Amino acid sequence: MKYFFVLLGALYCACPPSLAEPADPKAYLQMLFENKGGYTIPEEEITAILTAGGHPQYGEITYDSASHILNDLDLTKNDVFYDLGSGVGKLVLQVYLTTPVKKSVGIELSKTRWNIAETCRRQIASDEHTTAGRDLSFLNQNISATNISDATVCFISGITFPQPLIHSIMDRLSAIDHEVKVISVLPLPFHKHFKLLKTYTLPMSWSPEGVEVCLYQLTPTSQFEPAENLSKLDRKRKRRVLHEED
Ligand SMILES: C[S@@+](CC[C@H](N)C(=O)[O-])C[C@H]1O[C@@H](n2cnc3c(N)ncnc32)[C@H](O)[C@@H]1O
Repeated sequence: MKYFFVLLGALYCACPPSLAEPADPKAYLQMLFENKGGYTIPEEEITAILTAGGHPQYGEITYDSASHILNDLDLTKNDVFYDLGSGVGKLVLQVYLTTPVKKSVGIELSKTRWNIAETCRRQIASDEHTTAGRDLSFLNQNISATNISDATVCFISGITFPQPLIHSIMDRLSAIDHEVKVISVLPLPFHKHFKLLKTYTLPMSWSPEGVEVCLYQLTPTSQFEPAENLSKLDRKRKRRVLHEED
């Protein structure tokens, strides 16, 4: 009997049970965000976001739509995820809780939304769903002023983002010296470093019937071959745009 307990102890030390992922992450996140709000923000925040060159309009990717994309991406412990305009932080937390990424970061200008994200982050830590060595953070900052050079995967739901903000994000992402995948709700403007890999039609909080979501790959400038960077999908889309312009 004594040996049985010694063996059990040794087994526990060799492979302790992981507390990191809640048994049902979708239900856990639903519970966490219950009655937290975030859709409406004070007038002065709206003005501050517009003055900073952003846009305060709110809407969320659903848990199931995000799961669909995450299954495809197959993220690893070497990945660094950013949600550029993270709202109350649901997607950042879903990525942290359901994938092995080493870092999941949300950037959000609205203090109200950022506060909700921070409250939930602290709750997750006190529920022991965070793991040492993996970073989960929310920055109350302008996307334009945040260093995202370690990103390997970025999400942008910037349907209402002003064009200068979209272009500055795309330019900064294309200057990164390693490969980056970018998921965008609605197509991004054409950019020679962005190769369209795949499109989805996925439900969002504001559109149960689904909207187009595009997955792009960015090749580091040093390895960039302009002719190769156009995918079949890019060429099809370019032809369609030219045709529509005629
Ligand atoms: C459409 S919501 C997307 C929320 C979340 N990413 C999702 O899909 O579930 C866009 C968010 O970007 C924020 N935002 C807009 N411009 C910004 C900027 N320049 N810097 C940081 N956040 C910004 C808005 O306040 C809003 O919360």
